[in-house]
Parts: sequence; C-alpha cells; structure tokens
Amino acid sequence: MTIPSREADNELDAVEPSEYETVELGTLVIGAGAAGARTAIELVEQGVDPEEVLVIGKRSHGDAHTTWARGGINGALGTHDPEDDWTVHAADTLNEGHFLNDPGKVETVTKQMPGLLRELDDWGMDYSRTEDGEPDQRFFGAQSFRRTAFAGDHTGESLLNTLVERAQDLSIPYQENVFISRLLTEDGEALGAAGYDMDTGEYVVFDADTVVLAAGGYTSLYQRHSSRDDENTGDGPALAYLAGAELMDIEFVQFHPTGMMGDRYGEEWDGRLVTEAVRGEGGRLFNAEGERFMERYSPDQMELDARDVVARAIAQEVREGRGTENGGVYLDISHREQEFIQERLPRMYERFADLGVDMSEEPVEVAPTSHYGMGGVRVDDEGETRVDGLYAIGETMAGVHGANRLGGNSLAETIAYGKVTGQAVAGRLTDGSQPESGRLHDRAQHHFADLTRLANSDGSHDPEALLDEVRELLWEHAGLLRTEEGLSDGTAKLQELRRKADDLAVGGPTSRSFEYAMDLGFGLVVAETILRGASKRTESRGAHARTDYPEVDPELKRNIVAERDSVGGMQLTTEPVGTPSEAVQEALDAGHELDYHQLE
Ligand code: FUM
Repeated sequence: MTIPSREADNELDAVEPSEYETVELGTLVIGAGAAGARTAIELVEQGVDPEEVLVIGKRSHGDAHTTWARGGINGALGTHDPEDDWTVHAADTLNEGHFLNDPGKVETVTKQMPGLLRELDDWGMDYSRTEDGEPDQRFFGAQSFRRTAFAGDHTGESLLNTLVERAQDLSIPYQENVFISRLLTEDGEALGAAGYDMDTGEYVVFDADTVVLAAGGYTSLYQRHSSRDDENTGDGPALAYLAGAELMDIEFVQFHPTGMMGDRYGEEWDGRLVTEAVRGEGGRLFNAEGERFMERYSPDQMELDARDVVARAIAQEVREGRGTENGGVYLDISHREQEFIQERLPRMYERFADLGVDMSEEPVEVAPTSHYGMGGVRVDDEGETRVDGLYAIGETMAGVHGANRLGGNSLAETIAYGKVTGQAVAGRLTDGSQPESGRLHDRAQHHFADLTRLANSDGSHDPEALLDEVRELLWEHAGLLRTEEGLSDGTAKLQELRRKADDLAVGGPTSRSFEYAMDLGFGLVVAETILRGASKRTESRGAHARTDYPEVDPELKRNIVAERDSVGGMQLTTEPVGTPSEAVQEALDAGHELDYHQLE
C-alpha cells in the first residue's frame, strides 16, 4: 500500500458528494502548531475574513507538537550580548547547516526574529525575564552569543498558548481531530484537500483556493524519537510529494544528543527530550568511567558544540564500551543549586523527580534520539511549492537549516515563515475565492473509494507492526552513522515492506489501525526518500555521517531534490545552493563562535 492511489473498483466508485461533507473556504491551514497558527493570524491581520480561513489539526486545540519544544526560540535581541545581531545569527545558522541552507530563507528568519519576539511579548508570552524585565536569553549549542529566549523549559507550550489566544481573539476557526489523507490538485494547481473526521469516520472535502501545509516533520519514523508516536510521521512531506511538489534535503535527520533512556526510566519515556537547555545552563556529560569526554572531542565548545558532534561523541563512547549499562551516558547539572534548576528547568526537574531522580543531587541517563528533519518540501521565498496555491512551512518545509539545525531555530522558523506565508497568501486572496469547477469532486470521489477499500481490507499484515518495522529499519540503516551497504540493505527491506503493505488488515476510519495505515503510507514515501538521498550523498556533512565517505565533498555542496515521475517512481536530482548577502558574509568572515568557558 502507498497512500491509496489505485483506480477504484467499480463497486466502490460510488462515494457521491451527498455522502460526504464539503467545506468551502479561501485558505485551509493543515496543522495547528505554531507555524499554522501564526499563518492564520497573519492572514486575518492582513484583512482576510476569518470565515475564509480554517485551521485543522489531528488532535485537540492547543495540543500540537509545538508544545513539546522546550529550550527556547532564537532571535538576536542582544539582551546580554549587545554584539549580537541578525547577521551573526544568520552566520551561525549557515555554519551549523554546513552551507546547504538557502541563504535567502535564513535571512528571512533571522532578520525578522527580534521584532517577532517583541511582538510575542506584546501578545502576552510568559518569557523568563531578566531583573530589568527583558526576555532573558540563554546559551544554546553552537551559537556565538546568548540568543535563545525562553519560558523556563516549556517555551513551545508558552508560545502555542500565546498564539492560540491571539487566534481566538481574532475569531479564527479551528477544527480538531481531522486527518488529511490526500491533497487534491490538477495540472499543477491546488484545489483543496480530502480527509476524514477521526471521531465519526465521516469523509470531508475542503474546497480551498490555497492550502498551507504546516503538518510537521518525519522524525517519528525512527525507532527512538523525541515526539509522540503519532506525530511527525511524515504526513506533510508525503502529502506534498504525492501532490506533485518536490522534497529536498530529506537525508538530513538531526539526532538530539540527549534523549531519555527507556531501560532506565520506562519504555514510555524512551527517546523523550532532555532539553539542550540543561547543557545551556551548565549541564556536563560524563561517561561511565566518570570522564568528561567532550574534552576530547571538542575542548573549546564542550557540551555546547553542534548537536551532530555531541550526538556522535556520545555514540562513540557507548560503542567503545564507556557507556552506562543501559547504553547511554550521564548528564549532570547537580553542581547548580536546586532553586536554580527548579527555576530554569522546571519541567525537567519535575519529570525526573516523579521518576525518583533529584537532578540537583544526581545525573540523568541520556543517549541520542531522532529529533528534527532538516529536509522537507522545496518552497520558494514565500513558502510556496511548485504546485500553484500549495504552501509548506515550519518543519514541513526545507531550506532554512541545511545539513543541521541550531537548537532554538525551529520555533523561530515557524513564526517567521508563518508571517511571510500569511502575507503572501493574503495577497493572492484579495481577488475573492475561485468557483469550484467540478474537478475537485471527481478527485475526491476516487480517493474516498480508495479509503473505503482500505477500511474493508482484510489482509495478513497489521499496519502498526509494519510501521514499527519502518522505524527499526531507518534506525538501523539510516541512523547516526551510515554506509552504502547499510543503505542498500535498508532499501531492499523497504521494498519487502511495501509488498507487505499491499496486504493489510485494517478497520474502519475511526480505528487506530486505519490511522496507522495512513501513517504507514506516508512513512514509506519518506523512508524511501531518506534512504535514496543518503545513498546519493557520498560524503559526510552535518547530521549526515557516512563512515565510508568520512569527509565533506565540496562538489556535493548541493541540495538533493526528489520528485515523482509520470509513472509514480521517485527521481533524484541535485540543485546548487545560493550565496549569502554581503552583510552575512561579513559576519561569517568575522569568525564568531561560542566561548563555552564563559559558562564555568
Ligand atoms: O533541546 C531542546 O530544547 C530543543 C530545542 C530545539 O530543538 O530547538
């Protein structure tokens, strides 16, 4: 099974428009995290009637993945370090991305961020503050200055609360528990989207002039991941790809160095994030022999070197037998006062206290976990894909982060691109909405017939079990360290999984198995893109580490782009990257970098 795309059986060809709901509107925003919310806010602030906008999400309002973002949001406010400015933020972002980022998109984010952080302040965001009442800023990995604004260690939750309140003040409609299974397009133009209500199982068509995909990333497709199991399963990139958009840089998957250890804290905690803010506030890493091993790997930047460097260092310690018995290392902040930890890292402190660990007395056990997909949908400067009227933003889009992402830049990207894309979409809606031509329903009816067939399928394989196999496969074959042999074994296993996925046992649309079948369809598309992109990238750069090609290849300073050909196969090509502006080049030439020892 891929996301159902076969011609419908005649007997199931009869899902008539009277059998499903049709919602007509100007803009459909798919995804209710920070990126989706900020886009909708901008649309309305630009004068679009809120009745013409709908934000939909797979879960309840205010409970998107954004709430799991912890340590902070970047913007060169210069609260502590007045030497910081947006050009240095851009230079740090490009350095971290190993120059595969789109420099224009990096500027779009970094230039806007100081103003956007202040705007959030005006909207009531509960930042942690300095004694002068300014939003406080902390150290975060590989950033030259203290640039990460935060709300304790629940920054994502505070950000989303602020945006949801703002959206409610602007009367922006929200519909929860809707699963989008297909974007509807024709001749390279977006017509809307089809999906189903996860509570009732009813099919629904959104007839929209523009569609904004803000549906997250794909890192839950790895066995150990920092998100909830049913989010970041690749919906956004796969929906766009199947609709004719291109994917880019999907091989770059960030492994956050410090995920919780399931063997120590319980399976339900396996891979869950121990925020980088613990290290930003002075936390130190030790191996099982009590050695502060980052001294060997990165004596200048220590625990706050780039995430890929710290994650690989931890993996190497464990591989060489210096890890804990659970396969991790220790993260220790017990040299800080209990009150300090409780104030700066309240959720972490509470979580570990509930598990019987007092962080002010003892270390916690951690190891790398899949955390963020730098790749995504290829878009232009305003977030539009090559499908007219289809936009992709937030973790769904590619371009800002290149080969690796700075912590704190994901939340920044959501609101910066939310604003830019909201403005662009508002601009094109001023002509009023376009009448529907009948093409939309034609496509929707076929898709719903496919969904009905899926709901009736009584084959041999459980979609949840196959999804777990995809996760194991990616972890084993396209994880922290990759080789051609491993990637090609992974590709062969994926083909076998595709065969099994054509023979599923699935319940109706309100069942978990139906949702797993959807996730599996999306996951298979994204997994193929990761494996093939990683195989084509015969070098090591940022988060992509090939033990058979350990060096950077200057010839591969290009983005890998995947698109669907006319018979449904995947084609990969490469595209050159852009050049930074003079202002950013100057900041790059100045050679700023984090001075870790200020923390000590
Ligand atoms: O560790 C963290 O708090 C993660 C932040 C991020 O990925 O931006």
